[in-house]
Amino acid sequence: MDQHIAESIGRPDLIRLEDRLVCLRFETMKAVSALAAVRHLLDTGAVRPGDTLLDSSSGIYAYALALACHRYGMRCHIVGSTTVDHTLRTQLAVLGATLEQMEPCSDLRLDQKRRVERIHEILAEHPEYHWMRQYHDDVHYAGYRAVADRIRAETGADGLTVVGGVGSGASTGALARYLREAGGDVELVGVQPYGSVTFGAGHVADPEIIIAGIGSSIPFGNVAHEQYDTVHWISFEAARAGSVDLLRRHAVFAGLSAGAGYLAARHERDRAPRRTVLFVAADTGHRYVDTVYAGHREALPVSALAPREVADRGELALPWSRMAWNRAPAPGEARVPRPGGRLTRTA
Ligand SMILES: Cc1ncc(COP(=O)(O)O)c(C=O)c1O
Repeated sequence: MDQHIAESIGRPDLIRLEDRLVCLRFETMKAVSALAAVRHLLDTGAVRPGDTLLDSSSGIYAYALALACHRYGMRCHIVGSTTVDHTLRTQLAVLGATLEQMEPCSDLRLDQKRRVERIHEILAEHPEYHWMRQYHDDVHYAGYRAVADRIRAETGADGLTVVGGVGSGASTGALARYLREAGGDVELVGVQPYGSVTFGAGHVADPEIIIAGIGSSIPFGNVAHEQYDTVHWISFEAARAGSVDLLRRHAVFAGLSAGAGYLAARHERDRAPRRTVLFVAADTGHRYVDTVYAGHREALPVSALAPREVADRGELALPWSRMAWNRAPAPGEARVPRPGGRLTRTA
């Protein structure tokens, strides 16, 4: 029996949708990651019960951290982007977490930059607060070990391809790291929106909305580029086609990054006849009813979509591109600058 709902929410469902196509479905991802991270900080004495944990989030990490703080008797302060909606705002308030929401801003780079600046202001006023740094501190990997163990037990980890959207990089990076540790033949496929610098596509814009939670306009230390075999860049339009098809064909009501992952996973499954492909569905579809599902009649059929294979990022084009990454290091625009001036991947 679970001792707190954060444990229940942290445990995903594994659903075999079709032959060699498995969905790793979370009600809301990152609960397992935030719980393990806070537990580790308490165990190592980095924080004490009652301390305030601080971070910036566009949504599901805020909820996960608030749950972990509720579980361990900590205070929680979030600097949220405009994508924190009414439902989440209300839940956070009742859970006792405080939220500062930034003014609406259509420029993702500016929005992220302003949130980081605000964090620094808060830390200057409250040096006793602990900044969680979900995008940089690999304490966020640990919780996914239990998920990897379950995948290994139920799906097998030999001839397995893991597909997922890359935001902080913790979920996909951790699953690949822990699945590979046991020696299985595991491939990792990252999914990105256009315009994200993480795998060097800052130069291609998607005229429609960005996919919440994945991609970035600034470098993140938690992305382990050397773990990824392949990268797909998927537009809003193609991701919506995936989300609608996932609900229509398999009755899975999930978010936009899940739709993009599903599209990429179907393609990877079809091109590798001996591999099982697992994709991550990080959240449910509720947040996306108006922006994604309301337009279901206009959604393109997934059979009409195929990726453009590119050998070089200069060839990237909407609505969907695929490139072999071959476990290469971070491209220049995604390297995290260190205070001393040298560049490093982990902050
Ligand atoms: C909806 C959604 N999908 C995918 C991700 C990516 O997860 P990660 O940060 O572990 O890369 C996020 C992260 O915020 C998210 O909100």
